[in-house]
Amino acid sequence: MNILEIKNLTVEIDKILILKDINLEVKKGEIIAIVGPNGGGKTTLVKTILGFINPVSGKVKILGTDPKKAVKTGKIGYLPQKSSVPKDFPFSVLDVVLLGLINKKLPRDKKIEKAKKYLKYVGMDRFENKPYSGLSGGEQQRVSIARVLVSDPEIIFLDEPSTGIDVVAQESFYDFLQRLKKEKNMTIVMVSHDIGVVGRFVDKVAGLNRFLHFYGHPKEFFQKETLESIYGSEVELIIHSPECVACEHFHIDLDFK
Ligand SMILES: Nc1ncnc2c1ncn2[C@@H]1O[C@H](COP(=O)(O)OP(=O)(O)OP(=O)(O)O)[C@@H](O)[C@H]1O
Ligand SMILES: [Mg+2]
Repeated sequence: MNILEIKNLTVEIDKILILKDINLEVKKGEIIAIVGPNGGGKTTLVKTILGFINPVSGKVKILGTDPKKAVKTGKIGYLPQKSSVPKDFPFSVLDVVLLGLINKKLPRDKKIEKAKKYLKYVGMDRFENKPYSGLSGGEQQRVSIARVLVSDPEIIFLDEPSTGIDVVAQESFYDFLQRLKKEKNMTIVMVSHDIGVVGRFVDKVAGLNRFLHFYGHPKEFFQKETLESIYGSEVELIIHSPECVACEHFHIDLDFK
């Protein structure tokens, strides 16, 4: 079942073409990585899917309806690239997670129960009464993920969620996303620059630079022509894979699932 369908989507901002003729389908329970250079339109695509930006042409169908209606159901989670919670937010970790339930009609004790459950899920329960501002960047990110999950979304959009997280924490973060997929059949659309790492964790990669140059299995993504069409011929990546035809030109650690 397609949880997200994008057909012939074209987006302009201030009359400048940002996205052209994008077609993409996401099935329930898939993990998708949107990758591409800075300014390639990744955040714009996510914002258009969520109905924050109106396309000049084309159509987005999410959860079987149009973006604005779908967002109102509360079944879509969104972690923006620029955090909507200021880093020096003067409240506790639990309060930050409770923000994710602000539009839900639930008694306060039920909200607290849920918030605690998700703090545990992201491994941050022992910090619940600590000030959010005192956490490290990676810890704040985990709490933000709990805030996104607490409303029990069916699909989540994470715009560069691993920014500022160290390599070890990144690995466990991607394991965590796998767990979400496995245990909750969560659909995850994630914007990322860590193309070597996401290749091992995702079902499909969307290579975006104004056009959707590639949409498919990560293994096919790491081909010289594909990478060049997205990043330009100047791209210098590190590949150590006998399977990859681009290994003479690019060097990326590949270890596909
Ligand atoms: N509100 C806006 N006003 C003007 N231009 C915008 C606006 N939002 C996005 N753009 C432009 O649209 C293009 C795509 O931006 P977008 O933020 O979608 O890129 P991105 O792929 O997410 O980049 P990054 O990897 O740096 O986050 C950029 O050239 C950007 O300057
Ligand atoms: Mg962006």
